[in-house]
Amino acid sequence: MEIVILPSAAEVGRVAASVVAEVVVRKPEAVLGLATGSSPLAIYEELARRADAGELDFSRVRGFALDEYVGLDYGHPESYHAVIDRTVTRPLGLAPALVAVPDGFAADLAAACAAYEAAIDAAGGIDVQILGIGGNGHIGFNEPTSSLASRTRIKTLTPKTREDNARFFDSPEAVPTHCVTQGLGTILRARRLVLVAQGENKAEAIAAAVEGPLSASCPASVLQLHEHATVIIDEAAASRLRNADYYRYTWANKPAWQRY
Ligand code: GLP
Repeated sequence: MEIVILPSAAEVGRVAASVVAEVVVRKPEAVLGLATGSSPLAIYEELARRADAGELDFSRVRGFALDEYVGLDYGHPESYHAVIDRTVTRPLGLAPALVAVPDGFAADLAAACAAYEAAIDAAGGIDVQILGIGGNGHIGFNEPTSSLASRTRIKTLTPKTREDNARFFDSPEAVPTHCVTQGLGTILRARRLVLVAQGENKAEAIAAAVEGPLSASCPASVLQLHEHATVIIDEAAASRLRNADYYRYTWANKPAWQRY
């Protein structure tokens, strides 16, 4: 894995946006894997800025969201259909018809999950997957003990995740109990992974993902199996890494042509 430690959360967004931008410039019909949550917002804001400036064109780009709550009305501002539309599709100028979010209402959820996997394959696979990380090490909604080979499926949210996400809802009880999420095996199939994290409350999860054992107990540790994964974090999120000096040294000495 490539670990990039940057001085500020804003820098994290800018550098991660550059990774995505490079893919879109090279391949105007690129397929993006889209994460929700607060962590990737700075990436989307920077990409929108570059699109507004005419530097990037997202009109042919496809998008696949990582996850969705089960049974949460798409009109609810915290449904991931609404969040992706508000934070990605509109600001970047993606064609709505080219953006997919897992179906949290299908009568046959298992069949809808299989169809989602098939749609990703039919689009040619994901070129670059954007990821945040939960305080318990989840990516997408792959909670601890998720199979490292899992594919899109229904999951039960942990009490910790429901508590973390309660800030977006009227009450903790209003947070849905179930979700549909791309699996860890699905995420591993993306050609490129970019995980971003900011803040002290992510430091433990980042240390477990980057320097801990490969384990379903920390789902994000599955990035250790990927051949092109980049973890971009601020100093606070890096504060529990044992080898932080080595990562800083590696980044500082990276040849200019390999920089983002
Ligand atoms: C949610 C999302 C994840 C996200 C995580 C962290 O549970 N399903 O994709 O990475 O929250 O959210 P935040 O970035 O707001 O801390």
